[in-house]
Amino acid sequence: MSGRLNKKVAIVTGAGSIGPGWGNGKAVAALFARQGAKVFAVDRSEEALAETASIIADEGGECTAHVADVSVADEVEALVARCVETYGRVDILHNNVGIVDDKNVLETTEETWDKVMSVNLKSMFLTCKHTIPVMKKQGGGVIVNVGSISGIRWNGVPWIAYYTSKAGVLGFTRAIALDHAKDGIRCNALLPGSINTPLMLEPKRQTMPKPEFDKWVAARDTKIPIGRAGTAWDVAYGALFLASDDSEYVTGTQLVVDGGLIAQMKMPQRPAA
Ligand SMILES: NC(=O)c1ccc[n+]([C@@H]2O[C@H](COP(=O)([O-])OP(=O)(O)OC[C@H]3O[C@@H](n4cnc5c(N)ncnc54)[C@H](O)[C@@H]3O)[C@@H](O)[C@H]2O)c1
Repeated sequence: MSGRLNKKVAIVTGAGSIGPGWGNGKAVAALFARQGAKVFAVDRSEEALAETASIIADEGGECTAHVADVSVADEVEALVARCVETYGRVDILHNNVGIVDDKNVLETTEETWDKVMSVNLKSMFLTCKHTIPVMKKQGGGVIVNVGSISGIRWNGVPWIAYYTSKAGVLGFTRAIALDHAKDGIRCNALLPGSINTPLMLEPKRQTMPKPEFDKWVAARDTKIPIGRAGTAWDVAYGALFLASDDSEYVTGTQLVVDGGLIAQMKMPQRPAA
């Protein structure tokens, strides 16, 4: 395998998928491997991780699978240590793990709030805390934090903890970028829009009759200027740009991958004259 990430070592968190098909982290892991990276794939699901690792192996790529919960401090410390033990360095840290909770502020319990913050945001703090010293020592590296357009827009559903955690990703990303610019470390956020991954599709597929599900998918597509929801590959190619040397002058900012969704503004109809 050779390509834009030749000889790079990449940690990808959430490299599995919660259901059949391609999640964002799974596609990133596969694409990074196709582009020549040695992928250190992390997920809390052993089964999901095994599938990603076997896809990469079948394609002739290099991947080490490591089961860990990235919201737990000693598990993160151990995963970074194992990556360094295995490959000697970490060039790319792709922080992809994220969960959604479908509630407004009145319905959200303190426990759920803490869980979403912990999985979506504290996980990035922990991975950066343990990876940045390695990157500094080797003279640099790249960090990509997966946020969401839900971190910069209300998207019509009551996801209070998710919105807040994804807004936090942006502040965190800027601070990491500027605190470590002189260390040769770049850090950017990647903000997917409506992407057809198992995380988004499975809850609906499992609760709706097939014709209703198909209608829901089609209606969602028509709301997007490009005319379709995104795929995990759309997100993975954005991640590849941010992780590769092609973006060597890009840091502290965000890349939106949403088919034009948030660029549009629907004005109320003017009353007829
Ligand atoms: N799908 C979308 O429409 C969309 C839109 C915007 C942003 N995103 C973001 O993209 C990222 C990935 O989403 P996806 O749709 O591919 O999800 P996914 O559920 O398919 O994949 C996420 C993976 O993370 C793993 N994971 C969850 N918690 C973990 C933990 N604590 N430790 C280790 N692994 C853990 C899961 O097992 C799963 O394999 C998330 O951060 C999500 O917020 C997705």
